[in-house]
Order: sequence, then structure tokens, then C-alpha cells
Amino acid sequence: MTDAEVYSAYEPPEADWLRVNFVSSADGSATLDGLSGPLSGSEDKRVFKVLRARCDVLVAGSGTVLAEGYRELVLSPERVKWRLDHGLPEVPVMAVVSRSARLDPTDPIFTRAPQRPIVVCAADAPADRQEALGGVADLIAIGDGQVDFAAAVAALRERGLRQILCEGGPRVFGDLIAADLVDELDLTVSPLLVGAGPGRIAAGHGSPGARPLELRHVLEAGGNLILRYLRGSSDE
Ligand SMILES: NC(=O)c1ccc[n+]([C@@H]2O[C@H](COP(=O)([O-])OP(=O)(O)OC[C@H]3O[C@@H](n4cnc5c(N)ncnc54)[C@H](OP(=O)(O)O)[C@@H]3O)[C@@H](O)[C@H]2O)c1
Repeated sequence: MTDAEVYSAYEPPEADWLRVNFVSSADGSATLDGLSGPLSGSEDKRVFKVLRARCDVLVAGSGTVLAEGYRELVLSPERVKWRLDHGLPEVPVMAVVSRSARLDPTDPIFTRAPQRPIVVCAADAPADRQEALGGVADLIAIGDGQVDFAAAVAALRERGLRQILCEGGPRVFGDLIAADLVDELDLTVSPLLVGAGPGRIAAGHGSPGARPLELRHVLEAGGNLILRYLRGSSDE
């Protein structure tokens, strides 16, 4: 597929849209040696980068940001050009979810950010941490004891951040499923057996019931299945 075809394969159906992107091994593991990178290949990365280029805000949980060593967002000149041609700012806003605001304000994800990042935390996260992070990021402090994801997503949309891409991790995804906020799951199934041990792509709180999905496309590249699911309707 050309790059233009990949972009158009991920056209969001609505202006307000929340998509989640994950890679999993064929036997359902979300990590290998504690990271997602070893499960991923160049074709999965290509979709990953297109999804980043298409979003207004990139959301990731603290577990993911710390484990995967997220830094400031950098897009290639071609992706920046695509964004500018489509009326978007050069890079998306980065939003990090940490229930307890346990993030280091001197981390490059904040200090080198090309756009002022956002921290999403619980309203009762320690005040000193909220204050320290308030110097380097906008805070959305919402929910008692845990993040209220429905309210947090509404707060992002109020800021004009309507195309939301969540790159996980499993706890954040579990919470988004429980709150019924997921419009799309982009999932690469990589041709690997990891075996017992690591967790799945969703973790944490249980959901009230299974949510139906509609399969929009299946791409195959290098033995990887690249799946795009949209929110389905329960009466199908
Ligand atoms: N396969 C993939 O595509 C993929 C994608 C992303 C991540 N990953 C992997 O997933 C792992 C990280 O995932 P994760 O699920 O730990 O983190 P996560 O979903 O990125 O973030 C954790 C969130 O859950 C909160 N949390 C942590 N422990 C909690 C608890 N006991 N009760 C309630 N909330 C809690 C955190 O708050 P605090 O900050 O207060 O702890 C934070 O808000 C990494 O190994 C990463 O490599 C894989």
C-alpha cells in the first residue's frame, strides 16, 4: 500500500473519535520482555506512525510512558507536511494518564515537548505533585481515587482535541472499555508465541459486559495481521 492508501484506510468516521492502538502476540501477550517493541515490526510501525500523524492528542498511561521510555513527540518531515496540509498543528498534544500524578516534571516528555502536554490524574492525587506538574503541563484532575475517563475525554474534547489516539497501556485500555469510550481498536497480531506470563492488552477493572466490534479491515504484512475494528452495535 502507498502511504496515501494507509492514511485513507484509517480515515476516522466521526469528528469526535477515540481509537486505541495495540500490538499483541498470536497467543495474546501484550509484551515480550516487558515491552511492546519486540512484538512489533516495520509494517505495524507504519500504521502506528500514521495513527499518530492523524490525531489531535496522543494519550498514554504512566506505566507505558515509563516502561517504553516515551520522550517528546517527534514526527518525520513527511508526517508533519501531511498534518499541515490537513490543517493540523505540526505535532499532536501529548497527554499522560497517571492516577497519582507520579511523573517527573524534569522528564523530556515535558521539558522538550513541542506543545504544552497534558497530565490526566485523579482529583485527589497529591497536591504537591499536581503543583509541580502544573509548571510543565496542563492538568486535568478528575475523579475521586481514580481517573474519571468519561470526564477526562470530555475535557480533552472541550479543548478541541477531538481525534484521540490512545497507545495504552493495558490498564488505561481496561478503564476505557469499562467506561464504554472506545470507538476503534487497531490491533496488530504478530506471528509470535510468547507463552505464559505477560498480561493481555486490557487489564484492571472488569467491564459490565462484552462490547461488540465490527471488523473494518484486515491487512497482512510479513505474517502480521493488522486489524481495524470499529465500535459495533449490540443489536447486530
Ligand atoms: N502491546 C502494546 O501495544 C502495548 C501498548 C502499551 C503498553 N504496553 C505495555 O504495557 C505495560 C504498561 O501497562 P500498564 O497497564 O501497567 O500501564 P498504563 O495503562 O500505561 O498506565 C497505568 C495507569 O493505571 C494506573 N494504575 C497503576 N496501577 C494501578 C492500580 N493498582 N490501581 C489502579 N490504577 C493503577 C496508573 O496510575 P499511577 O501513575 O498512579 O500508577 C496509570 O494511570 C508496559 O509493559 C508496556 O510495555 C504494551
